Amino acid sequence: MGEETPEDREPPFLDLERLEDDARERLPADVFDYYAGGAESETTLREAPGSWRSWRLRPRVLRGVTAVPLDTELLGSPVRSPIGVAPWAYQGMAHADGELATARGAAAAGSLMTVSTSATHTLEEVAAEAGGSPRWFQLYRLHSGAHTDDLARRAGDAGYAALVLTVDLPLLGRRRRDLRHDFALPAGLRMANHPGDGDRPGLQDLATATWTFDDIPRFADLSGLPVVVKGVLRGDDATRCVQTGASAVWVSTHGGRQVDPAVASAHALPEVVDAVGDDVEVYADGGIRSGSDALTALALGARAVFVGRPTIWGLASGGADGVTRVLTGLGEELAHTMALCGLDDVRSVPRDTVVAAR
Ligand SMILES: Cc1cc2nc3c(=O)[nH]c(=O)nc-3n(C[C@H](O)[C@H](O)[C@H](O)COP(=O)(O)O)c2cc1C
Repeated sequence: MGEETPEDREPPFLDLERLEDDARERLPADVFDYYAGGAESETTLREAPGSWRSWRLRPRVLRGVTAVPLDTELLGSPVRSPIGVAPWAYQGMAHADGELATARGAAAAGSLMTVSTSATHTLEEVAAEAGGSPRWFQLYRLHSGAHTDDLARRAGDAGYAALVLTVDLPLLGRRRRDLRHDFALPAGLRMANHPGDGDRPGLQDLATATWTFDDIPRFADLSGLPVVVKGVLRGDDATRCVQTGASAVWVSTHGGRQVDPAVASAHALPEVVDAVGDDVEVYADGGIRSGSDALTALALGARAVFVGRPTIWGLASGGADGVTRVLTGLGEELAHTMALCGLDDVRSVPRDTVVAAR
């Protein structure tokens, strides 16, 4: 055994690349590629982190700001951070406790978790694990409309605080890594929310029949919950979502897994915020990898941001604690950068905090 070098030790800051490398070593290649990959040429996926950094911060000086609390409310639910967990499928492949570990990790960080339709634990089991922490349920349209409606009702009954309709998946994006591996859910895991046939592996259970704007009020009625529409990238669509009953809009490219190449969330967000106005909450995700990325999104009008892959790598390498470390690490970076920028309220970050990089 050689001497331990500084590179061998856990660094005293959030090192997401190191976490991703660790996850790559732990996971089978097809599972890692399912998590890491995107659609088609993966242009959307590759460009996402850089798109937040195509904006630059304009710090304010002499504002007397030191400590920055991150508390906020999302659709009226109090949370300790504006950085939440995006819905991601099949968490049981990353860690034996899957969604249950993510729920514990998010609750410890005071972050909101969005639970995927394609979870490997039932939505009721995850709700029980999240304790008093707020959580949202993400809905896909299943082949059976009746089963889909039933999921919406169950989310309302299980105490979820909102229903997130993911609308950017009328059909599955062409993900070349998964096609190459002929990826399917490993034996022993099942889509736990799917009634009866839930142990049929694979992605084919998701719908190819689409929703329309009329489904927004319908699901609000069925679930009794506010509806968040996820996967909106245009101002005109955002306006129509709100007009037809959406309580909030979530700007997303689905982590680069659907349309490719698509406009980056960082570039679509200002248009969506302008379209819906100040009274409607807008969230954003896609390539957020640092507190300064989160701050850029808040400045562009997001009420909160969500992270997918950082929490995947956290869960794979450290279970619930790994998820907590990622969320608190990003939160610490956000608070630190806000203090450096003379800002003390995550609920009202002025738009002129950022300018397009030249
Ligand atoms: C492996 C994986 C699975 C995902 N599964 C879902 C899902 O079940 N439902 C959904 O609405 N979005 C899903 N997404 C998209 C995420 O909610 C989110 O939009 C995206 O991961 C954000 O980008 P980021 O990973 O760069 O943070 C998934 C993303 C990944 C990477």
